[in-house]
Amino acid sequence: MSAAPTLNPAPAAPDAQAPLLVADDLSRHYRVSRGLFQPQATVRALNGVSFTLQRGRTLGVVGESGCGKSTLARALTLVEAPTAGRLQIAGTEVTTADAARRRWLRTQVQMVFQNPYGSLNPRKRIAQMLDEPLKLNTPLTAAERQERVLRMLETVGLRAEHAQRYPHMFSGGQRQRIAIARALMLSPPLLVADEPTSALDVSVQAQILNLLRDLQRERQLGYVFISHNLGVIEHLADEVMVMYLGRVVERAPKAALFARPLHPYSQVLWAAVPRLDGARRVVAPAADLTPPSALRSEPPSPLNLPPGCAFHQRCPLADARCRAELPALRPAGAAGQWVACHRVEEG
Ligand SMILES: Nc1ncnc2c1ncn2[C@@H]1O[C@H](COP(=O)(O)OP(=O)(O)OP(=O)(O)O)[C@@H](O)[C@H]1O
Ligand SMILES: [Mg+2]
Repeated sequence: MSAAPTLNPAPAAPDAQAPLLVADDLSRHYRVSRGLFQPQATVRALNGVSFTLQRGRTLGVVGESGCGKSTLARALTLVEAPTAGRLQIAGTEVTTADAARRRWLRTQVQMVFQNPYGSLNPRKRIAQMLDEPLKLNTPLTAAERQERVLRMLETVGLRAEHAQRYPHMFSGGQRQRIAIARALMLSPPLLVADEPTSALDVSVQAQILNLLRDLQRERQLGYVFISHNLGVIEHLADEVMVMYLGRVVERAPKAALFARPLHPYSQVLWAAVPRLDGARRVVAPAADLTPPSALRSEPPSPLNLPPGCAFHQRCPLADARCRAELPALRPAGAAGQWVACHRVEEG
């Protein structure tokens, strides 16, 4: 696959050997008003998240509603600047990048959203939508661009005659194919997908997941893949990160985590997944994590996090140390498995 010639050239010395994505202690806090005459409060939506993603690999991100998954996605796609921490994409520092470098970085990472109905402009024909990124970022001629648009439609399983249609003329699955096509027009090495199949019919979900997997193999794409559905994560991820109230509580190679989740919160999530055979699990609605039935209580408010481990109020194993001291993420269990839990550390 040839990369699109670009008006936003790579920084002088992009490091081809560098990991695709490095997040280092990334945080995003929001100042919110609690009401008239009340002091502002801080929502710690993302709180010191670190990980590395290599080209061609998939990091799955799971956790309950409100744990900060979409906030992470917005930080990774440069939609919102992190409040603290560092981010590198393709060896280039995001947080200190000047305007020219940021323009280049924006061609390196694209987002695929949950709702293919809301993410496509209803007034634009598909051809126009796919052409726009090329027009803005490359010196290609109109004929060359059109050729690329048609080739991309074919790549995502659509046909040339679809180019002149409007989004409302497509099914949900086809719209998600269009959204994926648009995301790939500039050949970014990194896609961030935020629940890309959860709005789709069960029968269509597997087709889109298979398309994403094929595209990854052909193009060595790196994915950050957010999902409530552990079956979907099992299908696609190489490594999995479990988030709880803005923090990573466990991170591990997929096989290790699915064989033996170690954090008490991960254990609750995994216990909620019925044991189905691999093929059916992918689309089984029963594998949806919300709400985890074993957790009867609500999580604490991100406006008012408890001291110590944020999970301690819901944790059957919590002791005095858990109530007082924030556990650090440290190696435990299988190779590459990291857990933030005092009790796991103690065996
Ligand atoms: N712009 C904002 N202003 C204030 N608070 C916000 C903002 N965006 C997100 N939050 C809060 O940050 C926390 C994390 O939200 P986020 O949308 O990242 O969660 P999520 O894991 O994506 O949840 P879901 O699974 O429901 O999509 C939540 O408490 C949310 O209310
Ligand atoms: Mg979200």
